[in-house]
Amino acid sequence: MGEAPQRRFTGSFTRQEGLPEAAVAAAEAVLRSGRLHRYNAAPGTPGETAALEAEFAAATGRRYCLAVASGGQALQIALRAAGVAAGAPVLTNAWTLAPVPGAIAGVGAMPVLVDSDDDLRIDMDDLTAKARASGARHLLLSHMRGHICDMDRLTALAADMDLTVIEDCAHTMGAAWGAVPSGGHGRAACYSTQTYKHINSGEGGLLTSDDADLMARATILSGSYMLYARHGAGPPEEAFADIRLDTPNLSARMDELRAAVLRPQLAALADNVARWNARHDAVAAELEAVQGLVLPRRPANERKAASSIQFRLPGRDAAGCRAMLAASAARGVELKWFGAAEPHGYTSAHRSWRYAPAQELPRTDALLATLFDMRLPLTFSLEDCRLIGALIGEAAAETAP
Ligand SMILES: Cc1ncc(COP(=O)(O)O)c(C=O)c1O
Repeated sequence: MGEAPQRRFTGSFTRQEGLPEAAVAAAEAVLRSGRLHRYNAAPGTPGETAALEAEFAAATGRRYCLAVASGGQALQIALRAAGVAAGAPVLTNAWTLAPVPGAIAGVGAMPVLVDSDDDLRIDMDDLTAKARASGARHLLLSHMRGHICDMDRLTALAADMDLTVIEDCAHTMGAAWGAVPSGGHGRAACYSTQTYKHINSGEGGLLTSDDADLMARATILSGSYMLYARHGAGPPEEAFADIRLDTPNLSARMDELRAAVLRPQLAALADNVARWNARHDAVAAELEAVQGLVLPRRPANERKAASSIQFRLPGRDAAGCRAMLAASAARGVELKWFGAAEPHGYTSAHRSWRYAPAQELPRTDALLATLFDMRLPLTFSLEDCRLIGALIGEAAAETAP
């Protein structure tokens, strides 16, 4: 038995900041008006949801934006609007979270899982091989935990293989590849505004694209009751002419209350991204010194929005990884581990997605076996982050093989 740990972190890994006063005031105004439905905005005003769409399109440099009920709904609507048919193979990252293969299954399609490399980005060689072998026409590219692959190479590869790319930007809102905001490379991009993402409305999603046909279909799918002229950044009327009567209404609209609280947060996004990155870098600086611990390399072109941090402890077996979890937890540090056989909290691995055909992914399995993950809420101070990094170092040393 070792000695009891000397130092302990006492903060909460799930406590987000309260919403800014402007968001609280905007929410109160919506509540007092009773106008909570997006198509019930006061006469002569665009309404909060339409205004959010216009502002988010401008912020991401896309022509069109549609606000929906969740990030997962944005994914499903984007896949359907991009023409993914029932039974079609759809490529996606093997290392991602359950809503991503879930969205593919949700449109009746078949997830084809692509390995991730040691730096947590999609493996381009495996992508090429699986695209050829499956004949897939679509890639749902997940920028999982904010790690953006070489988007220039990916875009060239997708063009070569005639793949339509839908970007899952649930973890990259406010990030960029060079000068291009994340979500600016694919045919469409999907964002989440669920509480643990970069802007928080409890639940919510945003879908962006420059493609008028895709966005007209997406708008009808979201449940627009043919009121698409009231959208804030929708395609022109003529884009709806051919599709308006043969596209189903799936009722996945955003409401005015959520849009109202998101707009002030969007205005503060760049500042908050800088705060997240400072917290990430404070933890990373401590972890760099830890023997046997490997941080993923980040490409020079990536402009991260790091609201979480990942690291590997290669060479540990499952018992060693569990010991690391326990030693960290004893110090008040809540790590997630992707190597567990069963889903835990929000974390699961491809073997738990039994609605997709079982797939052999030895490279991803080896990666997940020693991969750890930690949230970095903005309620942590930089001092907290330095302490957390040091405590992870202590836990790693205590449990070293
Ligand atoms: C990688 C990833 N994609 C998509 C989603 C779906 O977002 P939402 O929870 O808003 O449906 C999530 C949510 O956790 C996610 O982590």
